[in-house]
Amino acid sequence: MASPTIKLNNGYEMPQVGFGLWKVDNTTCADTVYNAILTGYRLFDGACDYGNEMEAGQGVARAIKEGIVKREDLFLVSKLWNSFHDKEQVEPICKKQLEDWGIDYFDLFIVHFPVALKYVDPQVRYPPGWQYDGKDDVQLSNATIQETWQAMESLVEKKMAKSIGISNFQGALILDLLRYAKVRPATLQIEHHPYLVQPTLLQLAKAEGIAVTAYSSFGPQSFIELGWDKAKETPVLFEHPVITTISKKYTKTSAQVLLRWATQRGLAVIPKSNNQTRLEQNLNVTDFDLDPSELDAISGLDRHLRFNNPTDYLGTLHIFA
Ligand SMILES: NC(=O)c1ccc[n+]([C@@H]2O[C@H](COP(=O)([O-])OP(=O)(O)OC[C@H]3O[C@@H](n4cnc5c(N)ncnc54)[C@H](OP(=O)(O)O)[C@@H]3O)[C@@H](O)[C@H]2O)c1
Repeated sequence: MASPTIKLNNGYEMPQVGFGLWKVDNTTCADTVYNAILTGYRLFDGACDYGNEMEAGQGVARAIKEGIVKREDLFLVSKLWNSFHDKEQVEPICKKQLEDWGIDYFDLFIVHFPVALKYVDPQVRYPPGWQYDGKDDVQLSNATIQETWQAMESLVEKKMAKSIGISNFQGALILDLLRYAKVRPATLQIEHHPYLVQPTLLQLAKAEGIAVTAYSSFGPQSFIELGWDKAKETPVLFEHPVITTISKKYTKTSAQVLLRWATQRGLAVIPKSNNQTRLEQNLNVTDFDLDPSELDAISGLDRHLRFNNPTDYLGTLHIFA
């Protein structure tokens, strides 16, 4: 079972369905990645912040060693954490992340958030997280996005990343970045589900030739796992009558309908599952088509409800204000 691909603005092809690595336990991550490759996944969405890049790399290495895939068959994604935005930190941290994965280039390296935090030496704490002291002190750095983006561009020059992208950026900041970018962002990764549709941001990305990857496609589900009240108080999308009616019609699961709503509208998805059955199901989301009225009905559930908002978990950093 292979995923279709999306052609990026630099000519590279990116699998439309990938596997997200956030909250994949260190103890199971290598096996999960290996099994996901056996299942047919070719794109893995990692990050410094997920704290499992070494284990993900071990899963990849095993699959390559056993001849299941070659490195060039895979599309490996990682992200620049906020603490490494200062221009002199971008290349060293990317190099460390490549070493952790055991590879010599990323297919895509993304600025995780448009927020520059004060540098934390990886010897002190890795991954550093949001707080400078590892407890409650969030400290900003003076790095601008322009400075960081120029350092990201040099990763492409040095062949450490084939493509570079952005995540959690809003429209005005994207327009600004495009004024100075010599290498345009190939992708924009955003929270996107029926409770947070962001149609104008999608229109902007389309107009600028930036492919969009949806994260947290199941809405509250990922954040219920974290015990967040906002997620627990929100009606579960899997049981929403609009979704269940459509899922019955197509004999697909609610998860598959949610992923198809995104993929049919041209977005890439990167669902995460720690369960083999669900992981298989999530890859199988491009072989049926919803009616346009059904796509609209799902989009109509929009509540402008964002779960991954630093303001909620830090009490500061109003980046989506
Ligand atoms: N750029 C960013 O700032 C950012 C932020 C968040 C996420 N991401 C990326 O996006 C990826 C996906 O987002 P996410 O991890 O937030 O959430 P998600 O994939 O939307 O949802 C994961 C949750 O849904 C459950 N699940 C998965 N497949 C299912 C299925 N077929 N049926 C029922 N339940 C299912 C999972 O449980 P089980 O594991 O038990 O199946 C887990 O509780 C992340 O792993 C990460 O790579 C990026």
